[in-house]
Amino acid sequence: MDDWDEDTTTTSSTAQGSSWNTGKGGFGGDHSSRGTDENGNEDKGSSWNSAESGFRGRGRGRGGGRGSAGRGFRNGGGRDEGGADDNEDGFVGGTGGRGARGGFRSGGGGGGSGREGFGGGYRGKDEEVFSKVSDPNMGGEADGENAGPKVTYVPPALSEEESSIFAHYESGINFDKYDDILVDVSGSNPPKAIMTFEEAALCESLNRNVSKSGYKKPTPVQKHGIPIISAGRDLMACAQTGSGKTAAFLLPILQKLMADGVAASRFSEVQEPEAIIVAPTRELINQIYMEARKFAHGTCVRPVVVYGGISTGYTIREILKGCNVLCGTPGRLLDVIGRGKIGLSKLRYLVLDEADRMLDMGFEPDMRKLVSSPGMPRKEDRQTLMFSATYPEDIQRLAADFLKMDYLFLAVGVVGGACSDVEQVVVQVTKFSKRDQLLDVLKTTGTERTMVFVETKRQADFIATFLCQEKVPTTSIHGDREQREREQALGDFRSGKCPVLVATSVAARGLDIKDVQHVVNFDLPNNIDEYVHRIGRTGRCGNTGKAVCFFDPEANGDLARSLVKVLSGAQQEVPKWLEEAAFSAHGTTGFNPSGRVFASTDSRKAGSFQNDRAGQPAVAPSAAADDDDEWE
Ligand SMILES: Nc1ncnc2c1ncn2[C@@H]1O[C@H](COP(=O)(O)OP(=O)(O)OP(=O)(O)O)[C@@H](O)[C@H]1O
Ligand SMILES: [Mg+2]
Repeated sequence: MDDWDEDTTTTSSTAQGSSWNTGKGGFGGDHSSRGTDENGNEDKGSSWNSAESGFRGRGRGRGGGRGSAGRGFRNGGGRDEGGADDNEDGFVGGTGGRGARGGFRSGGGGGGSGREGFGGGYRGKDEEVFSKVSDPNMGGEADGENAGPKVTYVPPALSEEESSIFAHYESGINFDKYDDILVDVSGSNPPKAIMTFEEAALCESLNRNVSKSGYKKPTPVQKHGIPIISAGRDLMACAQTGSGKTAAFLLPILQKLMADGVAASRFSEVQEPEAIIVAPTRELINQIYMEARKFAHGTCVRPVVVYGGISTGYTIREILKGCNVLCGTPGRLLDVIGRGKIGLSKLRYLVLDEADRMLDMGFEPDMRKLVSSPGMPRKEDRQTLMFSATYPEDIQRLAADFLKMDYLFLAVGVVGGACSDVEQVVVQVTKFSKRDQLLDVLKTTGTERTMVFVETKRQADFIATFLCQEKVPTTSIHGDREQREREQALGDFRSGKCPVLVATSVAARGLDIKDVQHVVNFDLPNNIDEYVHRIGRTGRCGNTGKAVCFFDPEANGDLARSLVKVLSGAQQEVPKWLEEAAFSAHGTTGFNPSGRVFASTDSRKAGSFQNDRAGQPAVAPSAAADDDDEWE
């Protein structure tokens, strides 16, 4: 047996939530048995939660808390929602560095429950529970998977059929309207944009794969991003959800590798990829990998994907078959590097998709660890590329640490703006009425694919159970589900077997699922960027979609202003009552009182937030931290 097979890894902890799927057990039993859960968390207690399962409102803290020594000011304020910790890629074991991150956060609630039990570790970004581990092979922190049962899950083999590899959905009626969006490139000497894929001068096989993917002309982020990357420049790119950012970085990278004759070799015990792509969730990185595999089809360039929740032995065997483009969630990536299976000396490209998330408190330490891994070329000697639909300015400043001085900032449309192909409707609710209102909404959506976002994993199980009982074919995805279940859930949703997917924020970013016509924010997120990403699961690639959000003035008042701003920025109707709520909300114009700035431009520009807030902490205690809860 391979030595790495001996490693123990945890699965994604409790496999709750399957009872309603399998019919085994009732949800009452399932959930009430969790009582105060292993994290000592709460749901934000809607009454029916309490009534049916003995949940008790909100307010318990994350105990050991999170916080980064370097950025501790982000923590300690506001909410503590341990129950929401839904994240990816559990690199975060409880060794020194991470342990130090605890503590800041504990100011929120009653605190104390849950986290301490892990001896300084905490539930990692991959939703996996990690014990305190120190594996010398892993550079200090394991993928968090060194305790508990071994993960044996191996994903099903991928089809080699071209019809499957190149399966895609059609661009929508508004695809051509992308060309009307204002584009701003800041920084010195940006290369000229291309207008067509022909101008990109892609090599033959890549060009063929682009055509087979149904791409006829580039989207704006591709028109500008491709030549920028091909010119060897570092890039921070912002473009709305669903507008083709993935191909904007994959195509120029693959083009260069193919032009240089890069070819995968299985004759090396240490694989040295030319490109590394990181993303915050397992499903997203897998999707990026599938895109890379599609564009590299029939060439000698071999992409590989690594993420938590699947067998490490399998992962490493895949790497050893040859690896040019390594796609990974941070924890597993650091793990395979730490195990010596990946060398970095040939690395030319480092891509952070969902870059603002990758540099937010939850992942920033991992990103720093990645760029300081042995052999990692200095930023001057590699190309670093960042992509997202949102870029809070504090994150932009931080991102500069990873980029060359002369990086270009590409903004397609309003930075942080919602996709205007999504019709946004805000419905005023009370916590008591939400569930019935959800049923009302789902009556109108019928069998059309609908994603319902909730705040916590437990809430996801509740709502999914409830909907199943109401005979709505529903599945769910969140961090307490095992990887197998998560992939099954996504598969059932994609295929239409379950047209309703209840999800935590783990599914908020990047996922590109055909025919998602509706997004319901059953619980509003606590930061506006998160909202923008969530509703962006619909209205993609020029198609239209609809997003309904339940706004409970008691719980969501803090979001009123930024919500009004996003709605008006996307030419959506703003209900009078919401305007009033925004007016009476505390905070200053343009700010989410919980701290996160909405729209921003290149932070290097004069008069920007950066300058306005000189001398202040980079991030207020806030949304960012809360957001992390949702992911970690
Ligand atoms: N030039 C193109 N022509 C046709 N379809 C395209 C083109 N570029 C991308 N697409 C398709 O558009 C969809 C959305 O692309 P992608 O997932 O890259 O968006 P994104 O900008 O990364 O969104 P998000 O912010 O949600 O991550 C995908 O199905 C992709 O294959
Ligand atoms: Mg994307």
